[in-house]
Amino acid sequence: MRIPVIAGNWKMHKTVDEALTFLKTLRSGNLPGKVETVICAPYPALPALVEAAEGSGIGIGAQNLHWAEEGAYTGEVSARMLTDIGVRYAIIGHSERRAYFAETDETVNRKGKTALQHGLVPILCVGESLEEREQERTKQVVREQIVRALEGLGSEEVKRVILAYEPIWAIGTGRASTAEDAGEVIGFIRRTVADLYDQQVANEVRMLYGGSVKPDNIEAFLAEAEIDGALVGGASLDPESFRQLIAAGGKKR
Ligand code: 13P
Repeated sequence: MRIPVIAGNWKMHKTVDEALTFLKTLRSGNLPGKVETVICAPYPALPALVEAAEGSGIGIGAQNLHWAEEGAYTGEVSARMLTDIGVRYAIIGHSERRAYFAETDETVNRKGKTALQHGLVPILCVGESLEEREQERTKQVVREQIVRALEGLGSEEVKRVILAYEPIWAIGTGRASTAEDAGEVIGFIRRTVADLYDQQVANEVRMLYGGSVKPDNIEAFLAEAEIDGALVGGASLDPESFRQLIAAGGKKR
């Protein structure tokens, strides 16, 4: 039985004060227990969020990290700096980082390994562009991204990874994938992981859908057996909307 995951990706939104107000509002209501809730915030808000989330069961994540232990990498943040302040997750290979910050399958692989070595849970993102989808290359593209992202990882490591399937054309566009399509691609990703490792490993890996998930469409995604939760951008910025997403996660069978 895989525990559902509802992860918010705030992207470049919220100051420390705004982040704290969000968390206070979120904590003022009931949150269901049977769902792993994660907020991935910009670096400056992370220490305050970790402290404010204490005892709530909400995990705090970063949106990136560097693969090196330390060194001359101006502007970068290491895994040890994140774990040192109590961060437990890190998004890796988001399509915005691949598109605007030259992330490649190779850097994704290196970052994933570093995250795991430091006990962080990588939320590893894959997904095809509109052009690739129109050329009916979705499965081929996603398979290649998965194979390269997981290269060199052992079974025990892979079981700790959360995979997020985010079709690029569905991100921030209000044009979500259909739940059936997302379920099919994620089922394909699970078979890919089973090919690379074995069925038992594949059965344990949590796989999320991301791309225009909102309170009014999340239930359809979660009704798909292969989809274990959601990675949410826009709809994670408002505490009421995020609470509804978490509540939907708590009802997943
Ligand atoms: P939206 O939910 O705003 O489409 O963003 C999805 C996303 O990129 C989450 O990582």
